[in-house]
Amino acid sequence: MSFSAIIGTGGYLPDRVVSNAELARTVDTSDEWIRSRTGIRERRVAAPDESTCDMAEQAARGAIAAAGLSPADLDFIVVATSTPDLIYPSTACLLQKRLGIRNGGVAFDVQAVCSGFVYATGIADQFIRAGTARHALVVGADANSKILDWSDRSTCVLFGDGAGAIVMGASDRPGVYLTRLHADGNYAHLLEVPSGVSRPSADPHIRMHGAEVFKLAVNIMGDLVEETLAAAGFETTDVDWLIPHQANERIISATARKLRMDMGRVIVTLDRHGNTSGASIPLALDTGIRDGRVRRGELLLLEAVGGGFTWGSVLLRY
Ligand code: UT7
Repeated sequence: MSFSAIIGTGGYLPDRVVSNAELARTVDTSDEWIRSRTGIRERRVAAPDESTCDMAEQAARGAIAAAGLSPADLDFIVVATSTPDLIYPSTACLLQKRLGIRNGGVAFDVQAVCSGFVYATGIADQFIRAGTARHALVVGADANSKILDWSDRSTCVLFGDGAGAIVMGASDRPGVYLTRLHADGNYAHLLEVPSGVSRPSADPHIRMHGAEVFKLAVNIMGDLVEETLAAAGFETTDVDWLIPHQANERIISATARKLRMDMGRVIVTLDRHGNTSGASIPLALDTGIRDGRVRRGELLLLEAVGGGFTWGSVLLRY
């Protein structure tokens, strides 16, 4: 039996740092409110001419180098993003071209908002297990700053820009044990950008009912981690690292409490970049691996919830 495993990771954050204090000069908020309600200290904002594909390329090149591969080795590229460069072609096709790949394999985008990276990883895992892909590049990248209403304090303090990437390859041992993916479109109105192509509106910005999203996220995450471990036959004590979507430190610590995990075994990076949507999990994973906390052979639980609503998890041995 064949499994998929992570063989390289990469991450990228734009240069421009926007502190809580800087935001407090333009909207009615404070560093104290943002830090105590969310855990965020600062976020990164892409340059006016910097796109999702620009960020994705940086993260992808880091992951490909870490895997010891060259772009030509990739036969599967999936980009999880809610902020594509264009309506089409997909950001994955733009990225494939940037990487200099000709006559490549599969390239497409996944739109599952903040759960996009776990969705994309689950899809890549299926292709590798089935033997139809050998080396998959999975990228999570979002330029949230481009769809924020910078005068809305209930959203503009929460989000940031960035990209994270992994390269997955076939392995005779897990690797990925399982992925659990879910959605419930009945919650669509709680977190949305209420404008599109076939149903345009005057409001192309992120709108969120924060308190409702918060409550749902805490409940969903708690149930999801229990469901994931039970399905794979692991105990909470087997998990070495929880690598959660980075939206709010209070949601993360509630999930850790449910798992009875000490916060020392949770990778938290949102203080430095806020909620980067699809990029948040691969950025946290790359940070934990590059700073030496996450080691080969350890059991990792990745979990996310986001607009849609969508939610999902990946349980894997690194
Ligand atoms: O990626 C997945 C999607 N996103 C999330 O997971 C985010 C989920 N939600 C949250 O993280 C939290 O609900 C927030 C951080 C957005 C808000 O925290 P909260 O503790 O739920 O606050 P709240 O929405 O209940 O608002 C409390 C007060 C309100 O004032 P009143 O009505 O009590 O007078 C807000 O108007 O805080 C006010 N407020 C702010 N005050 C200062 C809202 N935003 C701000 C702000 N600065 N930036």
